[in-house]
Amino acid sequence: RPHESAEPTVTVLVSVGLALAAYSLVAALVPQLAPHLVNKGLCGKDMLKPGFRRAEPALEQEAKRPHSPEATGVIGAAVYILLLALFAPLPYLSHLLPSSFHPAALPSLNTTAAQLVLPDGDPCAALLLEGSLAFPHHSFATYLASLLSLLIATFLGFCDDVFDIRWRFKLPIPIIASVPLLVTYAAGHGVTDVVLPRVFRIRELLGAVATNGVVHLGPLYYLYMSMLSTFCTNSINILAGVNGVEAPLVIALSIILNDLLYLTFSLSPLVPLLPYLPAALAARLPPAEALAGMSWTAGFAHGSRALADRHAFSLYFMLPLVGVCFGLLKHNWYPSRAFVGDTFCYFSGMAFAVVGILGHFSKTLLALFVPQVANFVYSTPQLFGLVPCPRHRLPRLDPATGTLVPSWAVVPPRALRTRRQEVGVALLCALERVGLVALRREPPAPPAACSNSGGGGEAKGDVIGCTNLTVLNLLLLRAGSVREDALTRRLAACQVVGSVGAFALRYGAGRWAYGE
Ligand code: UD1
Ligand code: MG
Repeated sequence: RPHESAEPTVTVLVSVGLALAAYSLVAALVPQLAPHLVNKGLCGKDMLKPGFRRAEPALEQEAKRPHSPEATGVIGAAVYILLLALFAPLPYLSHLLPSSFHPAALPSLNTTAAQLVLPDGDPCAALLLEGSLAFPHHSFATYLASLLSLLIATFLGFCDDVFDIRWRFKLPIPIIASVPLLVTYAAGHGVTDVVLPRVFRIRELLGAVATNGVVHLGPLYYLYMSMLSTFCTNSINILAGVNGVEAPLVIALSIILNDLLYLTFSLSPLVPLLPYLPAALAARLPPAEALAGMSWTAGFAHGSRALADRHAFSLYFMLPLVGVCFGLLKHNWYPSRAFVGDTFCYFSGMAFAVVGILGHFSKTLLALFVPQVANFVYSTPQLFGLVPCPRHRLPRLDPATGTLVPSWAVVPPRALRTRRQEVGVALLCALERVGLVALRREPPAPPAACSNSGGGGEAKGDVIGCTNLTVLNLLLLRAGSVREDALTRRLAACQVVGSVGAFALRYGAGRWAYGE
């Protein structure tokens, strides 16, 4: 595979440079462009700041606060896509520079070169043809398809910010956006098999569906991957509403760490920098000859070249994303001066789907989404209409204490409930018993008229309200009310714990279960 660069150190260093550039550009552009977003009507009121409830006269002054710009994520996405477009030639530079057309630079193609000399004997044409064969078209197509999917996701998110798209349309659009990715996945002879953990490899149990512990999912695997793209985009969008939570920094950093575990870096590119380093620092480094021969190998570095390439690809997409996240967080952190909007939720979600699918680590990716998966599963009664779902489920500000408290959804009285909502109320009662929701009930009626007692004969009144089923509300319910920034930190801590768990699962239990 002559197209693979010998080692990614230089490209990764440039990618780190792009991340810094992304941070500086986004941090500087948001305040400059935000007034234009507000002028065009793309703005929203921070619901968790005093004065949001205009009915309170004492807070009238704060009510006059200007609206915060919405959809500043479009600035982040634009900077990111432009920087990645600029970066596009870099991983392929060795194939684009004239020296790479020389047969000596392509030892493994030498025999092919001999066969490719054109009838008219034009050596230049032969060399060009050889160069075009050597160019990694599939890898580049993958890069372009990723950019295309990211552009579609950004466009969808921006449309959502402008038009408030309905859920029934929000779900399928990321699936369509992922089609170019799936095509490149298939073109690269993408694996559609799932290896079962050792405990499930029982011949009698699995029979025809699995051979040697491998299940051949075929088209179902493509369905799974397209669902992954819609999950990543929407799950970030519904775990939102509190300053700072919509920038999924911890997930991006975790993916970067996972990528680094697969890569080996040579330190030789640092040698030319030695004369420019401060003397005190240079004195601490090994001499140039030693540095040239040294490579920094991550603990879990795997041998496979293709595996390393996939993780390098993931790194090139994740590093600038981290820069963009930091740039947006500078303005979105409590007390927020700008909202990232649906644009950024969809864009960042699609960036994760792209690297998860094309990097072939979708299961690890899902494990890094633990809070989002938990929030989605916990939200399903409201998302699927079993429990009424208000337009906004974000927590509520208690103006007396300045802290956040869980927000509530109104449950219709028994007489007006649909059958589906009856099931929902039964589910809410079960969740209440395990402390996962707080319910508001009518005053207890005489024993005979009691309802929703779960069959236990308890004298409880009819359910008329429940805390909204989101992880943010649950954190407030279980761990007590806190200020908005403390809630963001709490969620970030959960995300970090989730990532640690994901790594333990992948590199501990996973290795044992799959016998790696
Ligand atoms: C999703 C959630 C909704 C949540 C909303 C908050 C579901 C099904 N939908 O809806 O429950 O209320 O996100 O983003 O779970 N806002 C703040 N503070 C912030 C961020 C946003 O007050 O830190 C408010 C602003 O008024 C902003 C609005 O939320 O204008 C944006 O809401 P939007 O992104 O349109 O909501 P959805 O994504 O549709
Ligand atoms: Mg949103």
